[in-house]
Amino acid sequence: MRSKILSILRNQKGYVSGQELCEKFGVSRTAVWKAINLLKEEGYEIEAVPNKGYHIVACPDVILAEEVKSRLQTKWVGKDVKYFEMINSTNTKAKQLAEEGASHGTLVIADEQNRGKGRRGRQWNTPPGTAIAMTLVVRPQMRPEKVSMLTLIMGLAVASACNQLPGVHSGIKWPNDIIVDGKKICGILTEMSAELNAIHYLVIGVGINVNMLSFPEDIKDIATSLALITGRKVNRAEVIQLCMQYFEKYYEEFQKTEDMSVLMEPYNKLLVNCGQEVRVLEPGNEYTGISMGINEQGRLLVKKEDNTLEAVYSGEVSVRGIYGYL
Ligand code: BTN
Repeated sequence: MRSKILSILRNQKGYVSGQELCEKFGVSRTAVWKAINLLKEEGYEIEAVPNKGYHIVACPDVILAEEVKSRLQTKWVGKDVKYFEMINSTNTKAKQLAEEGASHGTLVIADEQNRGKGRRGRQWNTPPGTAIAMTLVVRPQMRPEKVSMLTLIMGLAVASACNQLPGVHSGIKWPNDIIVDGKKICGILTEMSAELNAIHYLVIGVGINVNMLSFPEDIKDIATSLALITGRKVNRAEVIQLCMQYFEKYYEEFQKTEDMSVLMEPYNKLLVNCGQEVRVLEPGNEYTGISMGINEQGRLLVKKEDNTLEAVYSGEVSVRGIYGYL
């Protein structure tokens, strides 16, 4: 009920009477009053005026389940949201929940992560109150080899979401880093449980640097945050809402053909280094070529020096521009 009250208060310009809320939810005035008080304890500023009702004055920068659910206008993504104030890794938790039967679209969010996982066994820590660490559980009915495209779709969703914020022009460094002004603001880590022909579930983990104003020495030259880019504090719940709404939209497009034929164009528009020289670092095979964008299978097409076209698979590959991190 709290997420629904929040949603009503947020979408109403004036006051919402206690009576209206009682009738809407079929509960007593005391139950409504208790729910409002709980919201106030969580940091929402809600004004209560006799004979008028309730009015929301300010929302805190919280990413509690009620806050996120009250914002989402999705059909299946985030219908179930699990929030943790502090956790080791949202991917690890999401896998555990998936094993226990969590439904398609369950979203796991944490305010703080102390053993977050990055690609290639790296760490991805999330300090409290300043970032987004979230993982989406999906149960696609498709062959396991198609899965890498879902990571691309999440990348496209995050980049599209960030680009809704004034002053943000993000791009995608294939396969799954989101870049603004030449630095990384988001990383994505997908993990899968599958057998030969069928996927049991996937967890798609997303880490976004939102309100950090500084970074540890080892990543300070390659990392940035939405706050540093926009020069203002960014509401994390709004970013989660936008990411999830775009993901659902793109996932449904993808499902029609089970490939990137429809999404290839918007993806390639956001692809950094497209049409430029890149270096492909495959284990035991390094070469330079021109990045030509992704194909229907989500592979990066690279035109080599001998004019042959290589379709690079995202697995263990790293692609760099020839100048530095990008
Ligand atoms: C990368 O190395 O770029 C991928 C980083 C992915 C980090 C996110 S944070 C939320 C989710 N939980 C994890 O443990 N990792 C992912």
